[in-house]
Amino acid sequence: MSQQPTTTTSSRDQFRSRIGFIFAAAGSAVGLGNIWRFPYLAGVHGGGAFVIVYLLSVLIIGFSLMLMEFALGRNTSLAAVGAFRTLNKKFTFVGIMGVLAGFLIMGFYPVVGGWSLSYIFKTITGELAVTDPDTLTGVFMGLITGTWAPIFWTAIYMILNIVIVAGGIGNGIEKASKVMMPALFVLLVILVVRSVTLPGAGEGLAFLFAPDWSKLSGGLVLAAMGQAFFSLSLGMGCMITYSSYLSKNENLVSNAFIIPGMDTLVALLAGLVIVPSAVALGFEVGSGAGLAFITVPAIFATMGPVVGKFFGIVFFTLLALAALTSSISLLEVVVSYLIDEKNMSRKNAVGITSVILFIMCIAASLSMGPWSGFTILGNNIFDFFDKTTSLILLPLGGMFISIFIGWFWGKDKAFKEVTNDGTVKFSLFNTWFFLCRWIIPIIIFIVFITGISSFPG
Ligand code: PHE
Repeated sequence: MSQQPTTTTSSRDQFRSRIGFIFAAAGSAVGLGNIWRFPYLAGVHGGGAFVIVYLLSVLIIGFSLMLMEFALGRNTSLAAVGAFRTLNKKFTFVGIMGVLAGFLIMGFYPVVGGWSLSYIFKTITGELAVTDPDTLTGVFMGLITGTWAPIFWTAIYMILNIVIVAGGIGNGIEKASKVMMPALFVLLVILVVRSVTLPGAGEGLAFLFAPDWSKLSGGLVLAAMGQAFFSLSLGMGCMITYSSYLSKNENLVSNAFIIPGMDTLVALLAGLVIVPSAVALGFEVGSGAGLAFITVPAIFATMGPVVGKFFGIVFFTLLALAALTSSISLLEVVVSYLIDEKNMSRKNAVGITSVILFIMCIAASLSMGPWSGFTILGNNIFDFFDKTTSLILLPLGGMFISIFIGWFWGKDKAFKEVTNDGTVKFSLFNTWFFLCRWIIPIIIFIVFITGISSFPG
């Protein structure tokens, strides 16, 4: 790819370097899903059993599906919808489902991005410099159930997205990811050390890793599998879209190992930061969506006012940046659909999409407070967007992608694409293809059927 610099005359951008793609794809994967969603879901679902099913999902489905999406995107040089339309018209709906999923995720994700931004400022003002669970819970609830404050921060967050995505692939996404990822990683490692050395953290570690199988249910398995899709940005054509910007000599196989590997490592680190410290400091681990926002400030408070404030500012800034590198990929799915399929200019596509998404985010934000009485199938608007994507659209999207590769695209074409015409060694090809054809669609189908009754809130 380094041989093919981006030119202003080519209609499609390309990533400027191999490492640029890895950072961008990992940037898409690593986000609020890892740091906000994974620890709180692990807490809600009773710890170890959820974590183990999550890890199994990454292992059995995540790596393989990542490779499938890379292959489809690079083969066609088209985003999700276009990729399927060109390869087999009957599967165009999978791409459309993906665009819809991107849309719905972007209907609540920026709200949480906004919370992160607001927490940078709350750290600066010293409002969070306490370890008391009730105070920190009160601050968090005060923010999310409010009317204007969360909408204001969501707006700031959306503007940051728009600026990056409107700048195009090479300029915006790549640069943002390169700086943020290593910094985030280093900070998480520091925080893990702090968290697991707190007195009483051992119990939290046991909660996180020692499974209590009595917690196992269809709902838990679907939630854990859905979290794997969400965290790896899979099942909605996001990785198809990113790899459509990828050159023909890139090694897809190694990327499909590195990226899920990094993402899972970050999720585990975040779990190790948040869960043991929550237990050690007396927070309710099953308290739900606020877990990261109420426990992390307490960890910083234990570090003393100056050091704590410094780390707090760095943490929430990195969290917001990690969220940004994910949401720009979500926005990119919708935007590249409009560019490729509807011939819109990038600027128009970004503009129109952002306005609609912002309205959805306002509704999602208000559904935590003033509009909490309004529910769809027992869920408020925020949870409805969240569950519709992670429990329905992403798993089914992944299932159809798998069926497409295993049954319609065919072994020869798949082999040629993933091995760059036989030049890349991939000794597990047959295993991978067998997983695509049989195992993955069947597993997803069974998990979906047994777990979907957990959808109503
Ligand atoms: N993977 C992202 C995260 O963990 C969210 C995301 C989902 C991004 C789907 C793109 C596609 O935060």
